[in-house]
Amino acid sequence: MNALTILPAGWRLSLQPGQTLLEAADAGGVRLPRSCRNGTCRECRCRLLAGEVVYGVQWPGLSVDERDEGWVLPCVAYAAGDVTLLQPHAQQHPAPPGQAAGSAG
Ligand code: FES
Repeated sequence: MNALTILPAGWRLSLQPGQTLLEAADAGGVRLPRSCRNGTCRECRCRLLAGEVVYGVQWPGLSVDERDEGWVLPCVAYAAGDVTLLQPHAQQHPAPPGQAAGSAG
């Protein structure tokens, strides 16, 4: 299974087949910046430090220069192997999905 590492925090998450990098981060409890989730707003833009991605849309909102410089859009990018992203604004979810903090009992 491929791994998604998010720096500078150093979170290491698993990448399921068919998941975008954004979805894999969500599933692993890490929230990346996002808005449109379809490759146009660029809110999720971050650096690819290692690995390769393929895109699920024909023309994600990045210029050729930006791609060459290592910028990626995780909301529409799929990993081709292990991937490392640099996203200083990533945050851990306060609680796993479906679990409220402070259960009754
Ligand atoms: S969330 Fe809009 S481009 Fe990724």
